[in-house]
Amino acid sequence: MEIVIARDAAAVGELAADAIVAALGRRSEPVLGVATGSSPLTTYRALALRPIEWRTVAAFALDEYVGLPEEHPQSYHRVIDVEVTQRLGLDPGRVHVPNGNAGDLSGECERFERAIRDAGGVDVQILGIGSNGHIGFNEPASSFGSRTRIKTLTPRTRRDNARFFSSPEEVPVHCITQGLGTIMDARRVVLVATGDRKAAAVAAMVEGPVSARVPASILQHHRHATIVVDEAAAEQLA
Ligand code: F6R
Repeated sequence: MEIVIARDAAAVGELAADAIVAALGRRSEPVLGVATGSSPLTTYRALALRPIEWRTVAAFALDEYVGLPEEHPQSYHRVIDVEVTQRLGLDPGRVHVPNGNAGDLSGECERFERAIRDAGGVDVQILGIGSNGHIGFNEPASSFGSRTRIKTLTPRTRRDNARFFSSPEEVPVHCITQGLGTIMDARRVVLVATGDRKAAAVAAMVEGPVSARVPASILQHHRHATIVVDEAAAEQLA
C-alpha cells in the first residue's frame, strides 16, 4: 500500500487525479471504476481539468441502492450521471451502473460482473471508505472472495448516508454492490478519505490486521493500492 497524506480535501483530489491519470494514460480504451459519496468529489473536479480523451473511457459504478427510482436525485444512476458522466464528458453509453430496480436482481448482479469482464476488467478503481471500514457497500463481515451481489446496509451506514436524504427512513435498506473479490481484480486502486470521521477506519485499514471486520483492510493485499488522505483522516495513523 502506498499512503499519501495531503493537506486538505482539494489536495487529496489533485493527488488522486495524478495517480488515476498516470494509470489511465497507458491504455487505449481505459476502464475506470467510480465511487459515489462525498469523498471522491474533489477528485472528479480535478480529473475534469486533465487532458484525457474522456469519450473513450468506460466507467463502472461500485454500487446502487435497491428500489430507489433511477430519477431520484440520490440514486447512484443520477449521482454518477451528474458528478462523473457530465462533469468529465464521458460517453453515457459507456457508463455502467447496476440496475437496482431489475426484476431479477441476482441475474442483474451476474450481468454486471460479466460486463466488467467483457470490457477487459477495471484499470483504475476509485474508492471511498465508510466510517465502519466498508468499501463499495461491502459491510463488515463481507467475504473477501465476494462478487457483485445484493447486500443489506448496516444501521450505521444508513445513518451516515441519511445526510443525503430528507429523512433517515428514506435511506434504502438494500443495495447491489461489487464484491471485495471484484474490487481486488482492478489493476490499480486509488482510495480517498477526508475528515476526522474517517480517521479510525483509515488506521484500521492501513495498520490493523487484515480482517473481514474491516473490509477495506483487504487492500493491504492489493498489488497496487494508493491511499490518499487529508491530515484529519490521517490523524490516527502511527
Ligand atoms: C459509494 C461507496 C461507499 C462510499 C463510502 C464513503 O459508491 O461505495 O463505499 O465510498 O460510504 O462515503 P462518503 O464519501 O460519502 O463518506
